[in-house]
Amino acid sequence: MTWRAVVLTLFPEMFPGPLGHSLAGKALARGDWALETIDIRDFATDRHRSVDDTPFGGGPGMVMRPDVVDDAVSAALERAPDLPLIVFTPRGRLLTQRRVRALAEGPGAILLCGRYEGIDERVIRHRRMEEISIGDYVLSGGEPAAIVLMDACVRLLPGVMGEAASAAEESFAHGLLEYPQYTRPATWKDMTVPEVLRSGDHAAVAAWRRAQAEADTRDRRPDLWEAYRALAEAAPTA
Ligand code: ADE
Repeated sequence: MTWRAVVLTLFPEMFPGPLGHSLAGKALARGDWALETIDIRDFATDRHRSVDDTPFGGGPGMVMRPDVVDDAVSAALERAPDLPLIVFTPRGRLLTQRRVRALAEGPGAILLCGRYEGIDERVIRHRRMEEISIGDYVLSGGEPAAIVLMDACVRLLPGVMGEAASAAEESFAHGLLEYPQYTRPATWKDMTVPEVLRSGDHAAVAAWRRAQAEADTRDRRPDLWEAYRALAEAAPTA
């Protein structure tokens, strides 16, 4: 079955955007996955086609109306009743490789992109949407977040990545950052590629990479390092 993304947005022309290129673009052209957009503005009912209004309680910006968003969600669910419904917001749970993997194994997702200062909370509750953030920074809208999520999922679909092994091995699969990579030339600007990588000794290469991955994770991502250590303590052979 084809993995399917239905994107609800005020800016359908932003899609497929970067996903029309490279690995994701080729997979899209092959039909390994499908991308549809729904223009939220099509569900506006007044003559100005308004989709937002000022926030109750005051404050800057505009909030997307629950009635308009709800009608757009209904249209998406009519097309794709079995897909999980995700809304992008900096208030959401942080997206992880674990969640990406689970979504890639499923049938796809309906992705609601908020704009302005957010979406009326009632429609998020009413539809029991899963709220996802892609990081602790604020985007001007959910569209780049939807593109990030789709890219991360699509590359995991069967047949999309050249070498299946590289997916399993890389960053986060084992809770560590990826080890650094080198290619030719062996010496560049007085910097030489570590000797062990050119030794042909596969066991030594694996040990060096493991040590680098651990050292870099400890230095750069103490949060990941703590989680990794806790896991290693609970199951020392894992
Ligand atoms: N919308 C605005 N900022 C966002 C973020 N960091 N993640 C997901 N959606 C967003």
